[in-house]
Amino acid sequence: MNKIKIFRVLEKVQETEKIVTLRFDGKIDAKAGQFVMVWVPGVGEKPFSLSYIPDVGITVADVGKVSNALCSISAGDKAGIRGPYGNGFELRGNKILGIGGGYGIAPLAALIEQNRDKEFSTICGANTKKGILFAERIRKSSNVIVTTCDGSAGIRGMVTDAMEGLLKDNHFDQIVTCGPEAMMAEVLKIAKKFKIPTQVSLDRYMKCGIGVCGSCAVNGLRVCKDGPVFRDHELPPEFGKSKRDKSGRGIEV
Ligand SMILES: Cc1cc2nc3c(=O)[nH]c(=O)nc-3n(C[C@H](O)[C@H](O)[C@H](O)COP(=O)(O)OP(=O)(O)OC[C@H]3O[C@@H](n4cnc5c(N)ncnc54)[C@H](O)[C@@H]3O)c2cc1C
Ligand code: FES
Repeated sequence: MNKIKIFRVLEKVQETEKIVTLRFDGKIDAKAGQFVMVWVPGVGEKPFSLSYIPDVGITVADVGKVSNALCSISAGDKAGIRGPYGNGFELRGNKILGIGGGYGIAPLAALIEQNRDKEFSTICGANTKKGILFAERIRKSSNVIVTTCDGSAGIRGMVTDAMEGLLKDNHFDQIVTCGPEAMMAEVLKIAKKFKIPTQVSLDRYMKCGIGVCGSCAVNGLRVCKDGPVFRDHELPPEFGKSKRDKSGRGIEV
């Protein structure tokens, strides 16, 4: 679907103080990990992972222009959506460990629901209890471990603290992760130590979303077309260190 289609917001769920889920009035044929370009008239267009499939849903953190406009719309309002784009997660094996930080858990929740035949364990991490998303939703189809930096829910610490312990006592065929890049870089280090193949969802500045403009290019890869999900051995050398902002300037992740 390369044309923008207008969708109406059926339901708006305030997940945390700064994160909302928008459920739209249409269906989409997509794989979890794929994204849609969401357009707010007069404001702009940005990529968002699908947090619900096939009934279209996205989960948005209010951090800037477009995300703030999306967090401010109400049930009944409209937004333009095109996609799905990108590749999505490819599961290998039966025992899968999902690791999500903040709103990064959104595509993993959709992945778990699309693959109920797999045996999932999922680590959901956030700074505080209020930042934990979708733990109850995921618990219907996965073992769930919650971590918070301040200890207000689950294990006190980072997702990686829970991950090490889990991997010492359990075998997993694959790890899938989405969240802040610094977190995913640490996840990858531990996954390598335990020799578990890992897929990572990358967030890079995007304009066209369809592989044409080059704004998401890294090391010869277009994140919108070749990703956003990459296998561990495909990740660019800048992973976990830097990325480019909308003016093309290098910034730390
Ligand atoms: C494949 C893909 C999937 C994505 N999925 C989601 C998703 O499911 N939910 C979601 O909320 N976002 C998601 N994003 C990020 C989203 O596309 C926007 O980049 C984000 O909403 C900021 O856009 P904006 O116009 O609101 O902010 P802008 O006005 O462009 O930026 C405002 C400021 O916020 C900073 N900023 C940008 N992103 C973040 C961030 N995540 N945290 C803190 N500061 C930030 C910018 O550097 C800038 O300084 C995804 C991005 C990609 C590439
Ligand atoms: S966003 Fe245009 S090539 Fe990826």
